[in-house]
Amino acid sequence: MAGMYGRVALVTGSSRGVGRGIALRLAAEGAAVAVNYRRGADAAAEVVAEIVAAGGHAKAYAAAIDDQAAVDAMVDAVNADLGPVDLLVSNAGTASRGQTVAETPGADFLSLLQVHALGPIHLIQRVLPGMRAAGRGDVVMISSSTVSEAPENSAPYTMAKAAMEMCVRTLAREERAHGIRANIVAPGLVETDMGRRLVRAATGGGAIEDIAGSYPFGRVCTPADIGGAVAFLASADAEYVTGQRITVDGGGRSITVV
Ligand SMILES: NC(=O)c1ccc[n+]([C@@H]2O[C@H](COP(=O)([O-])OP(=O)(O)OC[C@H]3O[C@@H](n4cnc5c(N)ncnc54)[C@H](OP(=O)(O)O)[C@@H]3O)[C@@H](O)[C@H]2O)c1
Repeated sequence: MAGMYGRVALVTGSSRGVGRGIALRLAAEGAAVAVNYRRGADAAAEVVAEIVAAGGHAKAYAAAIDDQAAVDAMVDAVNADLGPVDLLVSNAGTASRGQTVAETPGADFLSLLQVHALGPIHLIQRVLPGMRAAGRGDVVMISSSTVSEAPENSAPYTMAKAAMEMCVRTLAREERAHGIRANIVAPGLVETDMGRRLVRAATGGGAIEDIAGSYPFGRVCTPADIGGAVAFLASADAEYVTGQRITVDGGGRSITVV
């Protein structure tokens, strides 16, 4: 429980799924965790209760990542309650509607860009001054292994994730002088609500359990796998690691429609 003692982590979209796994892991390492959610107040409260029951420190904060005023209010509240954020995990996100580029309305491209890139960039801009003042900080972005594969019917999602990846890689170079590191974790298919929806869409109603055996190690990725990668990147063991992208997909194979 000592590795991240004294640190303040903000994990966007941590009421469920991947973000929940990250929040639980960082709290277990000793960080105080701001559990962000959009609508699921009860689920966020459960994550906080689980952390507190295990002896950790956490508080829930509502804010849609694509709503700048809500994000500003959240950052102010986290500052007042827990202190300045020195570990930001940008995880909140939604998938696109599975349409071709030709069919996709412009508004869908814009909305995915807001959620996966423009909203997170605003949040990064809000927490950077505190990290710079402390001379230390970590930004970890949760992308997707599919971004490098450019699968059909997913352009709004992969395009927005790719935009954010480029921003994070640039940030990593720019902020080295301030002791701030920025890295990317790119999961393959993860066992979450989103992952289950994607499998249903790709298989005509199938379940993750039906296909897990065909994945590396006989299973798909779990939120705890991603929590482990994030914990490593934010740890002292990764002190010389920045601007990197770690793919966590068991070594290859991803579902075709994401
Ligand atoms: N699952 C996969 O197979 C997979 C694979 C590769 C990458 N990823 C990435 O991993 C991240 C997490 O995905 P997941 O599978 O955990 O999704 P999920 O199970 O659908 O959970 C999404 C989480 O994000 C929150 N959220 C959604 N939109 C938000 C917004 N606009 N502002 C703030 N919070 C928001 C949700 O909160 P509410 O419930 O309150 O809405 C929830 O806590 C995403 O960035 C996704 O692209 C997932």
